[in-house]
Amino acid sequence: MSKTIVVVGFGPGISTGVAEKFGAEGFNVALVGRTKERLDAGAAALKAKGINAVAFVADASNPAAIGKLIDEVRATFGTITAIHWNAYGDSQAGDLTAASETEIRGVFDVAISGLLSAVQTALPDLKASKGAVLITNGAFGELNDQINHYAAASNNMGLAMANAAKHKLVGLLAAKLKADDVFVGEVMIAGSIKGTSWAAGNPNPIEPSLVGETFYKLFDQRADNYARLS
Ligand SMILES: NC(=O)c1ccc[n+]([C@@H]2O[C@H](COP(=O)([O-])OP(=O)(O)OC[C@H]3O[C@@H](n4cnc5c(N)ncnc54)[C@H](OP(=O)(O)O)[C@@H]3O)[C@@H](O)[C@H]2O)c1
Repeated sequence: MSKTIVVVGFGPGISTGVAEKFGAEGFNVALVGRTKERLDAGAAALKAKGINAVAFVADASNPAAIGKLIDEVRATFGTITAIHWNAYGDSQAGDLTAASETEIRGVFDVAISGLLSAVQTALPDLKASKGAVLITNGAFGELNDQINHYAAASNNMGLAMANAAKHKLVGLLAAKLKADDVFVGEVMIAGSIKGTSWAAGNPNPIEPSLVGETFYKLFDQRADNYARLS
């Protein structure tokens, strides 16, 4: 049976590392984001490496659109083996003492509602393939006073709150889906990723390829649900 990964939130960083690694391991790759040109260029670059990649435009904050996307990927590639949830509402609800209700809901729409729509729609496939849900997270979500002060001072409170909820969701989904042999794994990024705006001025950013390798190791070995890179 062919293997397929859906990479939701495609750009130059982690998602490229994951798409390249899983593609090199024989997966079909569905690239998902909101910018068609970036997706088309990404799919062409993967194809040039011999990887079977197709671009799909969808907004990760829209659960109905994400459900439809999963159906489209299944119609294109067949059974879905893995979902990589990489999108995030980066600049939303930065100051939780002033953010609007819409902004606050927005961060959870991407981190939780869209993700759960993908998982629920793909669940029959994930169970049939003994597949995986792979989630990127960021250290803003860690329960740590120093990080709380940094997130508040840098106007990243909404992202930090959603990351913390997403971290809990990893554990809950892992517990719920263990009996079905569906693996749930998280790579926590405690640093900045080379090629993304977060890495500006950082002399030692994390290589996207390292994140791709780390996700693949979690997926392949299934010994641990969590990895942390800094
Ligand atoms: N970069 C870092 O230094 C860093 C640090 C800590 C944690 N992280 C975590 O890493 C993940 C992101 O990885 P990355 O920064 O390396 O980014 P990336 O893989 O380069 O690309 C992420 C892509 O997600 C897409 N996206 C954003 N919102 C979306 C939405 N609503 N629907 C569909 N696609 C959407 C964006 O493309 P469009 O705008 O075209 O849709 C963006 O290019 C996040 O979970 C973040 O919390 C990153």
